[in-house]
Amino acid sequence: MIVLKSAREIDIMRKACQISAEALKIAGEAVKEGVSTWEIDRIAYEYIKKQGAEPNFLNYNGYPATACISINDEIIHGIPSKNRILHRGDIVSIDLGAKIDGYNGDNAATFAVGEISDEAKRLCETTEESLYKGIEMAVAGGRLGDIGYAVQSYCEDRGFSVVREYTGHGVGTHLHEDPSVPNYGTPGRGVRLLPGMTIAIEPMITLGKAAINVMPDGWTVKTKDGSLAAHYEHTIVVTSNGPVILTKI
Ligand code: MF3
Ligand code: CO
Repeated sequence: MIVLKSAREIDIMRKACQISAEALKIAGEAVKEGVSTWEIDRIAYEYIKKQGAEPNFLNYNGYPATACISINDEIIHGIPSKNRILHRGDIVSIDLGAKIDGYNGDNAATFAVGEISDEAKRLCETTEESLYKGIEMAVAGGRLGDIGYAVQSYCEDRGFSVVREYTGHGVGTHLHEDPSVPNYGTPGRGVRLLPGMTIAIEPMITLGKAAINVMPDGWTVKTKDGSLAAHYEHTIVVTSNGPVILTKI
């Protein structure tokens, strides 16, 4: 069931999303050679708590941290650890969210540790741009497939691959609500987009093939071929005046 949000609910979501966006920004600023992913997680946790919000990933299905921090061939759901130290040339995807007054925000971005390779740069730029291509299609009267097609075609035209097993999602009083928002699709197909729909669009894109493996920790998702992956995410609301990015600072 897709829950359309009222103007009052959107106002609360904006608050949750702004805290999520600031936390992501601060976490991203902490990405540096020699820093552990655990330290970055602590920074995000402290910031969210200080705002009077809750880290909404923490304990979600037993997830043990505030943020998912995924390095290089890790696509999503990397668990922060004191043993995971960042090195120059790494790309680091940070995904986190905050809940306040009963509503959730959710966002992600991929950050560079110092100088990264040209192909890593191109992967990150393409993934981020594909998110905006998807967001552009989130207009009332459109279809979910328009969003997925926009992301998929933008990435595949540039030689990258779209992960299929994980998708974006509705967001609201729950972190994950209907509908599921795939990063692939057919224009004109799928659920019709309506004002008040709040969704997280989150392309997960790889430099090589799309196939994934889940690690024995039960969380970390990696590319099967060991190629690099990038992940960007915004929470948006569909309005009669077009999409509004709630997690934009
Ligand atoms: N960040 C994921 C998403 O964007 C959810 C993380 S699941 C968790 O949908 F368990 F790690 F929280
Ligand atoms: Co999400």
